[in-house]
Amino acid sequence: MPTEYFKRHHMRLDLASPVAVPPLPPGFHWLAWHESLVDAHADVLRQAFQDAADARLFPNLGCESGCRMLARAIRDCATFCPQATWLLAGPAGAVGCVQGLLEAGEGGVQNVAVLPEHRGRGFGAALLLQSLAGFQAVGATVAELEVTAANGSAVALYRRLGFRPYKAVYRSVDVPDRSMVGHGI
Ligand SMILES: CC(C)(COP(=O)(O)OP(=O)(O)OC[C@H]1O[C@@H](n2cnc3c(N)ncnc32)[C@H](O)[C@@H]1OP(=O)(O)O)[C@@H](O)C(=O)NCCC(=O)NCCS
Repeated sequence: MPTEYFKRHHMRLDLASPVAVPPLPPGFHWLAWHESLVDAHADVLRQAFQDAADARLFPNLGCESGCRMLARAIRDCATFCPQATWLLAGPAGAVGCVQGLLEAGEGGVQNVAVLPEHRGRGFGAALLLQSLAGFQAVGATVAELEVTAANGSAVALYRRLGFRPYKAVYRSVDVPDRSMVGHGI
């Protein structure tokens, strides 16, 4: 099976300065983490990542059952940080989400996601800042994330908010060979 390689940036931000979360437009509000919201997080992940390159890299992101498993796996992590985990909701329901993990004073931002029809309105930035404020509230001094280098809008967003790359890693994915299609594998 051919292998495809994805370059991923590890990016880091110092949390020494207070984080200011911008106000949301009328009709939008924050939903803090609650156990009952685990599937709402999963639904936003599925809709936001369905056409994203990351769904090839992490197949769980490409389907409903995978996103539900992922949301539960994050919640069940010993390092899960509810204070950095948020849903952004509008009049018609959730439009964005972010999850956080916290280990040894370092916040790990997971899966910033905004539904396609709500992008370019500052919601991605607002989610990230809300998560960073949550990390600060529980004493984190640094925030970190990993992003696919080809995901230009996400990399630009993280750079704009002050994250800087400090390490690159390559993740491999086995791509099914077209010649094998129909052979019952
Ligand atoms: C990455 C992602 C979260 C960004 O969400 P978003 O809501 O579009 O982010 P923002 O609106 O804050 O910023 C995006 C752009 O809109 C612009 N923008 C922000 N506020 C704006 C406003 N009020 N009016 C017009 N444009 C605005 C920003 O300048 C930014 O431009 P850029 O592409 O040059 O950086 C979203 O594209 C997404 O969910 N992608 C799929 C999932 C994914 O890849 N997540 C990242 C995994 S690491």
